[in-house]
Amino acid sequence: MIKQIEAIKRQRRAIILAHNYQPPEIQDLADLCGDSLELSRLAAATDAETIIFCGVRFMAETAAILSPQKTVLMPRPEAGCPMADMITPEALASRKAELGEIPVVTYVNSTAAVKALSTICCTSANALEVVESLDADRILMGPDRNLALNIAARTTKEIIPWPGCCPYHDRLSVQEVTDARRAHPGAVFLAHPECRPEVVALADAALSTSGMLRYARESEKNEFIIGTEIGLLHTLAKENPHKRFYAASENLVCPDMKRISLADVLGCLERMDGRVTVPEEIRRPAYAAVERMIALGR
Ligand code: 13P
Ligand code: SF4
Repeated sequence: MIKQIEAIKRQRRAIILAHNYQPPEIQDLADLCGDSLELSRLAAATDAETIIFCGVRFMAETAAILSPQKTVLMPRPEAGCPMADMITPEALASRKAELGEIPVVTYVNSTAAVKALSTICCTSANALEVVESLDADRILMGPDRNLALNIAARTTKEIIPWPGCCPYHDRLSVQEVTDARRAHPGAVFLAHPECRPEVVALADAALSTSGMLRYARESEKNEFIIGTEIGLLHTLAKENPHKRFYAASENLVCPDMKRISLADVLGCLERMDGRVTVPEEIRRPAYAAVERMIALGR
């Protein structure tokens, strides 16, 4: 199946992008695997005509926002993000009206319609940099309350959090981390900023998924407790065969990230279906918010 995918991919001048949480065989198949920020940048920079996006809808939508002239396909278009559904454009508009003039920093884990109402987007890799870049002392940040609170702890600006969360990262408890630390004394604990602040407070570092990959590669330590979705363990172990990685909890599984199989990728390439598009009247303001974020890293 992998050979078939490779052949048809060449014919279609397609590129396969995958998020770090995808099933192992999809990560291995991908031309490029990364965190949300890397995937946004890659989607904007590639000259491929077609992008097969192995991730969840907001990621494919971001690619379509950045590159409307490209064909962005999702092998399983129903793969969504529960956190992204915790904020609607209507609810955001009414909160903005309540708060008056306030910049809105929106995590990329959100719909295009919500991005369209935002000042600037952020990912877990650049959220602090994005917040610091704004000429304002008071910022509305959503939809992830945990990310907002974790950033609030690192800036002097007032951050007003939106009451949303990743249901999987949010349920990682202090008890589970304490148990894991006891089971693996001396191991480094890495937490994703989508975890609760009290869990992040226990971490040696709070990093995006690719930030964790970099940390593990560069660290002299040999054991790591990983406080993010378990899909990351595959690449961690592959890149560091002599180091040991432990899931902070067996419950850190995002079912939406696990939907795509090799057969889905092949079927998607054969039929060229699962196209993700964003209506132009939403795409243009959403593009401004995403592009403002990407420009910060240039
Ligand atoms: P990053 O890979 O950008 O850290 O994002 C995590 C995530 O929750 C994606 O859904
Ligand atoms: Fe959304 Fe959480 Fe899944 Fe990431 S891990 S896609 S934030 S539900």
